[in-house]
Amino acid sequence: MANDNKYYYILTYGCQMNEHDSEKLAGMLEKMNYRSTDKPEKADIILLNTCMIRENAELSLYGKVGSFKHLKEKKSDLVLGVCGCMMQTDKARSEIIKKYPYVNLVFGTHNIEQLPAFIDRLEEEKRVIEVLDSDKGCIPELPVKREDDHKAWVSIIKGCNNFCTYCIVPYVRGRERSRQAEDIINEVCELVKQGVIEITLLGQNVNSYGKDLSEDIDFADLLKMLDNIDELKRIRYMTSHPRDFTDKLVEVIANTNKVCEHFHLPVQSGSTKILNKMNRGYTRKEYLNLIDKIKENIPEASITTDFIVGFPGETEEDFADTISLAKRIRFDMAFTFIYSIRPDTKAGKMKEQVPDDIKNARLQELMAVQNKISMEQNSKFSNQTVKVLIDGESKNNPETYSGRTRTNKLVIVPRNDDILGKIVNVKINEVQSWTLYGEVI
Ligand code: SAH
Ligand code: SF4
Ligand code: F3S
Repeated sequence: MANDNKYYYILTYGCQMNEHDSEKLAGMLEKMNYRSTDKPEKADIILLNTCMIRENAELSLYGKVGSFKHLKEKKSDLVLGVCGCMMQTDKARSEIIKKYPYVNLVFGTHNIEQLPAFIDRLEEEKRVIEVLDSDKGCIPELPVKREDDHKAWVSIIKGCNNFCTYCIVPYVRGRERSRQAEDIINEVCELVKQGVIEITLLGQNVNSYGKDLSEDIDFADLLKMLDNIDELKRIRYMTSHPRDFTDKLVEVIANTNKVCEHFHLPVQSGSTKILNKMNRGYTRKEYLNLIDKIKENIPEASITTDFIVGFPGETEEDFADTISLAKRIRFDMAFTFIYSIRPDTKAGKMKEQVPDDIKNARLQELMAVQNKISMEQNSKFSNQTVKVLIDGESKNNPETYSGRTRTNKLVIVPRNDDILGKIVNVKINEVQSWTLYGEVI
Protein backbone atom coordinates (compact mmCIF):
# COMPACT_ATOMS: atom_id res chain seq x y z
CA MET A 1 0.00 0.00 0.00
CA ALA A 2 1.00 3.58 -0.66
CA ASN A 3 1.58 4.53 2.96
CA ASP A 4 3.57 1.46 3.98
CA ASN A 5 6.68 3.33 4.93
CA LYS A 6 4.93 6.31 6.41
CA TYR A 7 4.81 7.11 10.09
CA TYR A 8 2.60 9.07 12.45
CA TYR A 9 3.37 10.66 15.78
CA ILE A 10 0.59 11.72 18.17
CA LEU A 11 1.13 13.80 21.28
CA THR A 12 -1.82 13.90 23.66
CA TYR A 13 -2.55 16.45 26.37
CA GLY A 14 -5.35 16.38 28.93
CA CYS A 15 -7.68 13.70 30.21
CA GLN A 16 -8.59 10.10 29.32
CA MET A 17 -11.25 11.37 26.90
CA ASN A 18 -8.45 12.89 24.85
CA GLU A 19 -6.24 9.81 25.27
CA HIS A 20 -9.08 7.69 23.95
CA ASP A 21 -9.68 10.07 21.02
CA SER A 22 -5.98 9.69 20.21
CA GLU A 23 -6.42 5.92 20.19
CA LYS A 24 -9.13 6.46 17.57
CA LEU A 25 -6.96 8.83 15.52
CA ALA A 26 -4.22 6.18 15.64
CA GLY A 27 -6.77 3.49 14.71
CA MET A 28 -7.77 5.40 11.57
CA LEU A 29 -4.16 6.05 10.58
CA GLU A 30 -3.22 2.39 11.04
CA LYS A 31 -6.13 1.48 8.77
CA MET A 32 -4.56 3.74 6.18
CA ASN A 33 -1.35 1.75 6.68
CA TYR A 34 0.57 4.40 8.56
CA ARG A 35 2.73 3.12 11.38
CA SER A 36 3.33 4.66 14.78
CA THR A 37 6.65 6.22 15.81
CA ASP A 38 7.79 7.89 19.02
CA LYS A 39 10.20 10.10 17.09
CA PRO A 40 8.55 13.22 15.64
CA GLU A 41 11.48 13.75 13.25
CA LYS A 42 10.67 10.41 11.61
CA ALA A 43 6.95 11.17 11.19
CA ASP A 44 5.00 12.07 8.05
CA ILE A 45 2.00 13.05 10.15
CA ILE A 46 2.26 14.80 13.51
CA LEU A 47 -0.92 15.37 15.50
CA LEU A 48 -1.13 17.39 18.70
CA ASN A 49 -4.32 16.55 20.58
CA THR A 50 -4.78 19.52 22.88
CA CYS A 51 -6.34 20.34 26.26
CA MET A 52 -7.82 23.63 27.46
CA ILE A 53 -8.64 22.79 31.09
CA ARG A 54 -6.04 25.13 32.65
CA GLU A 55 -3.85 27.87 31.27
CA ASN A 56 -0.62 25.90 31.70
CA ALA A 57 -1.90 23.13 29.40
CA GLU A 58 -2.56 25.79 26.78
CA LEU A 59 0.78 27.56 27.15
CA SER A 60 2.86 24.40 26.91
CA LEU A 61 1.08 23.54 23.63
CA TYR A 62 2.18 26.75 21.92
CA GLY A 63 5.81 26.03 22.85
CA LYS A 64 5.50 22.52 21.47
CA VAL A 65 4.03 23.65 18.13
CA GLY A 66 6.92 26.11 17.83
CA SER A 67 9.42 23.31 18.37
CA PHE A 68 8.11 21.46 15.29
CA LYS A 69 8.68 24.36 12.87
CA HIS A 70 12.09 23.07 11.77
CA LEU A 71 10.59 19.65 10.93
CA LYS A 72 8.12 21.25 8.56
CA GLU A 73 10.97 23.20 6.96
CA LYS A 74 12.87 19.96 6.34
CA LYS A 75 9.90 17.93 5.12
CA SER A 76 7.54 20.14 3.13
CA ASP A 77 4.79 17.51 2.81
CA LEU A 78 4.69 16.87 6.55
CA VAL A 79 1.14 16.97 7.92
CA LEU A 80 1.34 19.02 11.11
CA GLY A 81 -2.08 18.92 12.74
CA VAL A 82 -3.49 20.49 15.88
CA CYS A 83 -6.80 19.09 17.16
CA GLY A 84 -8.72 18.56 20.39
CA CYS A 85 -10.28 20.84 22.98
CA MET A 86 -8.17 23.98 22.43
CA MET A 87 -9.28 24.14 18.81
CA GLN A 88 -12.92 24.41 19.93
CA THR A 89 -12.25 27.88 21.38
CA ASP A 90 -12.03 30.91 19.08
CA LYS A 91 -9.12 32.38 21.00
CA ALA A 92 -6.75 29.42 20.88
CA ARG A 93 -7.76 28.44 17.35
CA SER A 94 -7.08 31.87 15.87
CA GLU A 95 -3.78 32.02 17.77
CA ILE A 96 -2.68 28.77 16.10
CA ILE A 97 -3.97 29.76 12.67
CA LYS A 98 -2.37 33.21 12.71
CA LYS A 99 0.91 32.65 14.52
CA TYR A 100 1.83 29.19 13.24
CA PRO A 101 1.27 29.28 9.47
CA TYR A 102 3.14 25.98 9.05
CA VAL A 103 0.40 24.13 10.94
CA ASN A 104 -1.52 22.77 7.95
CA LEU A 105 -4.34 20.85 9.64
CA VAL A 106 -6.75 22.05 12.32
CA PHE A 107 -9.83 20.18 13.50
CA GLY A 108 -11.84 19.88 16.70
CA THR A 109 -13.39 17.36 19.06
CA HIS A 110 -16.59 16.87 17.02
CA ASN A 111 -15.10 15.68 13.75
CA ILE A 112 -12.18 13.38 14.47
CA GLU A 113 -13.71 10.75 12.15
CA GLN A 114 -12.88 13.02 9.21
CA LEU A 115 -9.11 12.63 9.66
CA PRO A 116 -8.67 10.30 6.64
CA ALA A 117 -10.60 12.76 4.43
CA PHE A 118 -8.53 15.67 5.73
CA ILE A 119 -5.31 13.85 4.87
CA ASP A 120 -6.61 13.22 1.34
CA ARG A 121 -7.51 16.88 0.94
CA LEU A 122 -4.01 17.94 1.99
CA GLU A 123 -2.69 16.30 -1.19
CA GLU A 124 -4.31 19.20 -3.07
CA GLU A 125 -4.93 21.90 -0.49
CA LYS A 126 -2.27 23.80 1.46
CA ARG A 127 -4.20 23.98 4.65
CA VAL A 128 -7.33 22.32 6.01
CA ILE A 129 -9.17 23.98 8.88
CA GLU A 130 -12.46 22.47 9.96
CA VAL A 131 -13.98 22.79 13.40
CA LEU A 132 -17.66 22.05 14.15
CA ASP A 133 -19.79 23.46 16.97
CA SER A 134 -21.35 20.10 17.67
CA ASP A 135 -21.23 16.58 16.24
CA LYS A 136 -23.90 15.13 14.04
CA GLY A 137 -25.91 13.53 16.81
CA CYS A 138 -24.65 9.96 16.86
CA ILE A 139 -21.25 8.85 18.08
CA PRO A 140 -19.45 7.25 15.12
CA GLU A 141 -17.94 3.81 15.67
CA LEU A 142 -14.24 4.13 14.85
CA PRO A 143 -11.31 1.73 14.75
CA VAL A 144 -9.22 1.98 17.93
CA LYS A 145 -5.52 1.31 18.38
CA ARG A 146 -5.19 0.39 22.04
CA GLU A 147 -2.06 0.64 24.15
CA ASP A 148 -2.65 -2.53 26.17
CA ASP A 149 -3.93 -6.04 25.45
CA HIS A 150 -5.53 -6.62 28.84
CA LYS A 151 -7.28 -3.33 29.59
CA ALA A 152 -9.24 -0.83 27.55
CA TRP A 153 -11.16 2.41 27.70
CA VAL A 154 -14.75 2.36 26.52
CA SER A 155 -16.56 5.61 25.88
CA ILE A 156 -20.14 5.65 27.22
CA ILE A 157 -21.11 9.32 27.24
CA LYS A 158 -19.69 12.42 25.64
CA GLY A 159 -19.94 16.05 26.64
CA CYS A 160 -21.13 17.71 29.81
CA ASN A 161 -24.27 19.65 30.78
CA ASN A 162 -23.12 20.78 34.19
CA PHE A 163 -21.50 24.11 33.44
CA CYS A 164 -19.46 24.33 36.60
CA THR A 165 -18.64 28.02 36.47
CA TYR A 166 -14.84 27.53 36.29
CA CYS A 167 -14.84 24.85 33.61
CA ILE A 168 -14.27 24.99 29.85
CA VAL A 169 -15.30 21.38 29.13
CA PRO A 170 -18.99 22.02 28.29
CA TYR A 171 -17.86 24.57 25.70
CA VAL A 172 -15.29 22.35 24.02
CA ARG A 173 -17.01 18.96 24.28
CA GLY A 174 -20.65 19.95 23.80
CA ARG A 175 -23.80 18.60 25.45
CA GLU A 176 -24.21 15.13 26.97
CA ARG A 177 -24.76 12.36 24.45
CA SER A 178 -24.99 8.78 25.72
CA ARG A 179 -24.01 5.87 23.56
CA GLN A 180 -26.56 3.08 23.03
CA ALA A 181 -26.15 0.40 25.72
CA GLU A 182 -26.19 -2.28 23.03
CA ASP A 183 -23.17 -0.73 21.29
CA ILE A 184 -21.30 -0.50 24.61
CA ILE A 185 -22.03 -4.13 25.52
CA ASN A 186 -21.02 -5.30 22.04
CA GLU A 187 -17.75 -3.41 22.23
CA VAL A 188 -16.95 -4.83 25.67
CA CYS A 189 -17.82 -8.39 24.55
CA GLU A 190 -15.53 -7.97 21.54
CA LEU A 191 -12.73 -6.67 23.79
CA VAL A 192 -13.15 -9.56 26.19
CA LYS A 193 -12.85 -12.00 23.28
CA GLN A 194 -9.53 -10.37 22.46
CA GLY A 195 -8.28 -10.90 26.02
CA VAL A 196 -9.23 -7.68 27.79
CA ILE A 197 -10.04 -8.25 31.49
CA GLU A 198 -10.39 -4.66 32.73
CA ILE A 199 -12.44 -1.87 31.21
CA THR A 200 -12.72 1.78 32.19
CA LEU A 201 -15.98 3.41 31.18
CA LEU A 202 -15.29 6.95 30.06
CA GLY A 203 -17.25 10.15 30.20
CA GLN A 204 -16.97 13.64 31.69
CA ASN A 205 -19.87 12.71 33.89
CA VAL A 206 -20.55 8.96 33.65
CA ASN A 207 -23.39 8.92 36.13
CA SER A 208 -25.49 11.12 33.84
CA TYR A 209 -25.49 8.13 31.50
CA GLY A 210 -28.85 7.41 29.88
CA LYS A 211 -30.64 10.66 30.76
CA ASP A 212 -30.76 11.60 27.08
CA LEU A 213 -31.70 8.13 25.75
CA SER A 214 -35.24 7.09 24.87
CA GLU A 215 -34.61 3.76 26.58
CA ASP A 216 -35.23 3.72 30.36
CA ILE A 217 -31.68 3.06 31.52
CA ASP A 218 -29.21 4.70 33.90
CA PHE A 219 -25.54 4.25 34.82
CA ALA A 220 -26.33 1.74 37.56
CA ASP A 221 -28.31 -0.41 35.07
CA LEU A 222 -25.39 -0.30 32.64
CA LEU A 223 -22.97 -1.47 35.37
CA LYS A 224 -25.29 -4.37 36.20
CA MET A 225 -25.40 -5.44 32.55
CA LEU A 226 -21.61 -5.28 32.19
CA ASP A 227 -21.13 -7.19 35.44
CA ASN A 228 -22.71 -10.21 33.73
CA ILE A 229 -19.99 -10.51 31.10
CA ASP A 230 -18.19 -13.67 32.13
CA GLU A 231 -14.51 -13.25 31.37
CA LEU A 232 -14.41 -9.60 32.37
CA LYS A 233 -12.66 -9.16 35.74
CA ARG A 234 -12.71 -5.46 36.57
CA ILE A 235 -14.95 -2.53 35.71
CA ARG A 236 -13.82 1.05 36.37
CA TYR A 237 -15.38 4.35 35.38
CA MET A 238 -14.39 7.96 35.24
CA THR A 239 -15.39 10.56 36.14
CA SER A 240 -18.45 10.46 38.34
CA HIS A 241 -20.10 13.58 39.73
CA PRO A 242 -21.03 13.67 43.43
CA ARG A 243 -24.40 15.29 42.64
CA ASP A 244 -25.66 12.39 40.51
CA PHE A 245 -24.28 9.62 42.73
CA THR A 246 -27.60 8.03 43.70
CA ASP A 247 -28.34 5.53 46.47
CA LYS A 248 -29.19 3.04 43.75
CA LEU A 249 -25.70 3.44 42.29
CA VAL A 250 -23.98 2.86 45.66
CA GLU A 251 -26.15 -0.23 46.17
CA VAL A 252 -25.40 -1.63 42.71
CA ILE A 253 -21.66 -1.10 43.15
CA ALA A 254 -21.82 -2.80 46.56
CA ASN A 255 -23.67 -5.78 45.09
CA THR A 256 -21.82 -6.38 41.82
CA ASN A 257 -18.58 -8.36 41.66
CA LYS A 258 -16.59 -6.61 39.03
CA VAL A 259 -17.12 -2.93 39.69
CA CYS A 260 -13.98 -1.83 41.54
CA GLU A 261 -14.10 -0.31 45.01
CA HIS A 262 -12.59 2.97 43.89
CA PHE A 263 -14.58 6.20 44.05
CA HIS A 264 -13.08 9.24 42.40
CA LEU A 265 -15.49 11.96 43.45
CA PRO A 266 -14.14 15.44 42.74
CA VAL A 267 -15.25 17.67 45.63
CA GLN A 268 -13.46 20.86 44.45
CA SER A 269 -14.06 22.76 47.72
CA GLY A 270 -15.12 22.15 51.31
CA SER A 271 -17.07 25.40 51.53
CA THR A 272 -20.76 25.35 50.65
CA LYS A 273 -20.57 29.01 49.67
CA ILE A 274 -17.83 28.28 47.12
CA LEU A 275 -19.54 25.08 45.90
CA ASN A 276 -22.57 27.21 45.22
CA LYS A 277 -20.57 29.78 43.27
CA MET A 278 -19.01 26.89 41.34
CA ASN A 279 -22.49 25.57 40.46
CA ARG A 280 -21.56 22.10 41.72
CA GLY A 281 -25.09 21.22 42.81
CA TYR A 282 -24.24 19.83 46.29
CA THR A 283 -23.39 21.24 49.71
CA ARG A 284 -20.52 20.27 51.99
CA LYS A 285 -23.01 18.32 54.10
CA GLU A 286 -24.44 16.43 51.13
CA TYR A 287 -20.94 15.46 49.99
CA LEU A 288 -20.03 14.24 53.49
CA ASN A 289 -23.25 12.22 53.63
CA LEU A 290 -22.48 10.61 50.29
CA ILE A 291 -19.02 9.56 51.45
CA ASP A 292 -20.46 8.19 54.71
CA LYS A 293 -22.97 6.17 52.71
CA ILE A 294 -20.24 4.73 50.48
CA LYS A 295 -18.05 3.82 53.46
CA GLU A 296 -20.98 2.18 55.24
CA ASN A 297 -21.90 0.03 52.24
CA ILE A 298 -18.38 -0.67 50.95
CA PRO A 299 -15.96 -0.52 53.90
CA GLU A 300 -12.90 -1.31 51.76
CA ALA A 301 -13.67 1.59 49.37
CA SER A 302 -10.90 3.92 48.40
CA ILE A 303 -12.00 7.52 47.96
CA THR A 304 -10.06 10.01 45.86
CA THR A 305 -10.86 13.54 44.77
CA ASP A 306 -9.96 16.76 42.95
CA PHE A 307 -9.60 20.10 44.73
CA ILE A 308 -9.44 23.62 43.30
CA VAL A 309 -7.90 26.31 45.50
CA GLY A 310 -8.23 30.04 44.92
CA PHE A 311 -11.64 30.07 43.24
CA PRO A 312 -12.91 33.70 43.04
CA GLY A 313 -14.16 34.89 46.42
CA GLU A 314 -12.48 32.07 48.38
CA THR A 315 -11.70 33.56 51.81
CA GLU A 316 -9.37 32.16 54.48
CA GLU A 317 -12.48 30.74 56.11
CA ASP A 318 -13.61 28.98 52.93
CA PHE A 319 -10.15 27.55 52.47
CA ALA A 320 -10.14 26.36 56.10
CA ASP A 321 -13.35 24.48 55.23
CA THR A 322 -11.48 22.70 52.43
CA ILE A 323 -8.65 21.73 54.78
CA SER A 324 -11.08 20.48 57.41
CA LEU A 325 -12.99 18.44 54.81
CA ALA A 326 -9.74 16.83 53.62
CA LYS A 327 -8.91 15.92 57.22
CA ARG A 328 -12.39 14.64 57.96
CA ILE A 329 -12.72 12.40 54.89
CA ARG A 330 -9.07 11.31 54.68
CA PHE A 331 -8.94 10.77 50.91
CA ASP A 332 -6.53 8.12 49.69
CA MET A 333 -5.30 10.54 47.09
CA ALA A 334 -6.24 13.94 45.69
CA PHE A 335 -5.38 15.99 42.64
CA THR A 336 -4.95 19.59 43.74
CA PHE A 337 -5.26 22.46 41.27
CA ILE A 338 -4.85 26.20 41.40
CA TYR A 339 -7.90 27.92 39.94
CA SER A 340 -7.12 29.02 36.39
CA ILE A 341 -9.26 31.57 34.55
CA ARG A 342 -10.74 30.05 31.38
CA PRO A 343 -12.00 32.27 28.58
CA ASP A 344 -15.74 33.00 28.49
CA THR A 345 -16.55 31.05 31.66
CA LYS A 346 -18.71 32.64 34.38
CA ALA A 347 -16.04 32.38 37.07
CA GLY A 348 -13.50 34.02 34.78
CA LYS A 349 -15.62 37.16 34.86
CA MET A 350 -16.23 37.14 38.63
CA LYS A 351 -14.75 39.97 40.66
CA GLU A 352 -12.76 39.01 43.76
CA GLN A 353 -10.17 36.95 41.87
CA VAL A 354 -7.67 35.61 44.42
CA PRO A 355 -4.08 36.89 44.01
CA ASP A 356 -1.48 34.39 42.75
CA ASP A 357 0.67 34.40 45.89
CA ILE A 358 -2.32 33.45 48.05
CA LYS A 359 -3.39 30.74 45.59
CA ASN A 360 0.12 29.28 45.64
CA ALA A 361 0.33 29.32 49.44
CA ARG A 362 -3.05 27.57 49.71
CA LEU A 363 -1.99 24.92 47.21
CA GLN A 364 1.16 24.20 49.23
CA GLU A 365 -0.79 23.98 52.47
CA LEU A 366 -3.42 21.65 51.05
CA MET A 367 -0.82 19.42 49.37
CA ALA A 368 1.11 19.10 52.63
CA VAL A 369 -2.03 18.08 54.51
CA GLN A 370 -3.10 15.63 51.79
CA ASN A 371 0.35 14.06 51.30
CA LYS A 372 0.54 13.27 55.00
CA ILE A 373 -2.93 11.67 54.91
CA SER A 374 -2.12 9.70 51.74
CA MET A 375 1.03 8.38 53.40
CA GLU A 376 -0.91 7.33 56.50
CA GLN A 377 -3.59 5.67 54.37
CA ASN A 378 -0.96 3.76 52.40
CA SER A 379 0.92 2.75 55.55
CA LYS A 380 -1.98 0.44 56.35
CA PHE A 381 -0.80 -1.74 53.47
CA SER A 382 2.66 -2.39 54.94
CA ASN A 383 3.26 -6.15 55.06
CA GLN A 384 -0.21 -6.80 53.64
CA THR A 385 -0.91 -8.90 50.57
CA VAL A 386 -2.91 -7.21 47.82
CA LYS A 387 -4.25 -8.36 44.45
CA VAL A 388 -2.69 -6.42 41.59
CA LEU A 389 -3.39 -6.38 37.86
CA ILE A 390 0.05 -5.93 36.31
CA ASP A 391 -0.05 -3.33 33.54
CA GLY A 392 3.55 -3.26 32.30
CA GLU A 393 6.81 -1.39 32.66
CA SER A 394 6.59 1.28 35.33
CA LYS A 395 6.98 4.88 34.27
CA ASN A 396 10.29 5.67 35.90
CA ASN A 397 12.17 2.39 35.96
CA PRO A 398 12.24 -0.27 33.21
CA GLU A 399 13.56 -2.77 35.77
CA THR A 400 10.16 -2.76 37.43
CA TYR A 401 6.54 -3.41 36.50
CA SER A 402 3.56 -1.50 37.80
CA GLY A 403 -0.05 -2.40 38.31
CA ARG A 404 -3.16 -1.42 40.23
CA THR A 405 -5.22 -2.88 43.04
CA ARG A 406 -8.99 -2.85 42.65
CA THR A 407 -8.91 0.28 44.79
CA ASN A 408 -6.60 1.85 42.18
CA LYS A 409 -3.45 1.91 44.33
CA LEU A 410 -0.32 2.02 42.19
CA VAL A 411 1.93 -0.96 43.03
CA ILE A 412 5.52 -1.49 41.83
CA VAL A 413 7.11 -4.96 41.63
CA PRO A 414 10.35 -6.32 40.14
CA ARG A 415 10.16 -6.94 36.37
CA ASN A 416 8.83 -10.35 35.38
CA ASP A 417 7.35 -11.02 31.95
CA ASP A 418 5.22 -13.95 33.14
CA ILE A 419 2.90 -11.69 35.13
CA LEU A 420 2.11 -9.09 32.46
CA GLY A 421 -1.65 -8.58 32.16
CA LYS A 422 -2.36 -10.97 35.02
CA ILE A 423 -3.87 -10.49 38.47
CA VAL A 424 -1.27 -11.56 41.05
CA ASN A 425 -0.80 -11.47 44.83
CA VAL A 426 1.76 -8.92 45.96
CA LYS A 427 3.24 -8.62 49.45
CA ILE A 428 3.85 -4.92 50.17
CA ASN A 429 7.20 -4.12 51.77
CA GLU A 430 7.54 -0.36 51.29
CA VAL A 431 4.98 2.44 51.09
CA GLN A 432 5.04 6.02 49.89
CA SER A 433 2.25 8.63 49.59
CA TRP A 434 1.44 7.73 45.99
CA THR A 435 2.94 4.27 45.56
CA LEU A 436 3.21 0.83 47.17
CA TYR A 437 6.25 -1.39 46.54
CA GLY A 438 6.22 -5.15 46.90
CA GLU A 439 7.00 -8.61 45.62
CA VAL A 440 4.83 -11.12 43.83
CA ILE A 441 4.15 -14.16 46.05
N1 SAH B 1 -15.67 15.95 34.61
C1 SAH B 1 -14.86 15.77 35.70
C2 SAH B 1 -13.46 16.38 35.64
C3 SAH B 1 -13.15 17.40 34.63
S1 SAH B 1 -11.67 18.23 34.67
C4 SAH B 1 -15.60 16.26 36.90
O1 SAH B 1 -16.46 17.08 36.84
O2 SAH B 1 -15.29 15.82 37.96
C5 SAH B 1 -10.70 17.57 35.95
C6 SAH B 1 -10.48 18.51 37.09
O3 SAH B 1 -9.82 19.69 36.65
C7 SAH B 1 -11.72 19.03 37.75
O4 SAH B 1 -12.26 18.11 38.66
C8 SAH B 1 -11.23 20.26 38.45
O5 SAH B 1 -10.73 19.97 39.73
C9 SAH B 1 -10.09 20.72 37.58
N2 SAH B 1 -10.41 21.93 36.84
C10 SAH B 1 -11.37 22.12 35.91
N3 SAH B 1 -11.39 23.40 35.48
C11 SAH B 1 -10.41 24.05 36.18
C12 SAH B 1 -9.95 25.40 36.21
N4 SAH B 1 -10.50 26.35 35.45
N5 SAH B 1 -8.93 25.70 37.03
C13 SAH B 1 -8.38 24.75 37.83
N6 SAH B 1 -8.78 23.47 37.84
C14 SAH B 1 -9.79 23.12 37.03
FE1 SF4 C 1 -16.31 20.51 33.99
FE2 SF4 C 1 -18.11 20.39 35.89
FE3 SF4 C 1 -18.56 19.15 33.58
FE4 SF4 C 1 -16.71 18.23 35.23
S1 SF4 C 1 -18.91 18.33 35.65
S2 SF4 C 1 -16.51 18.51 33.06
S3 SF4 C 1 -15.88 20.07 36.14
S4 SF4 C 1 -18.41 21.34 33.89
FE1 F3S D 1 -8.71 18.84 28.72
FE2 F3S D 1 -10.58 18.51 26.96
FE3 F3S D 1 -10.12 16.65 28.74
S1 F3S D 1 -10.12 20.39 28.02
S2 F3S D 1 -9.35 17.76 30.49
S3 F3S D 1 -8.73 17.29 27.18
S4 F3S D 1 -12.08 17.21 27.89
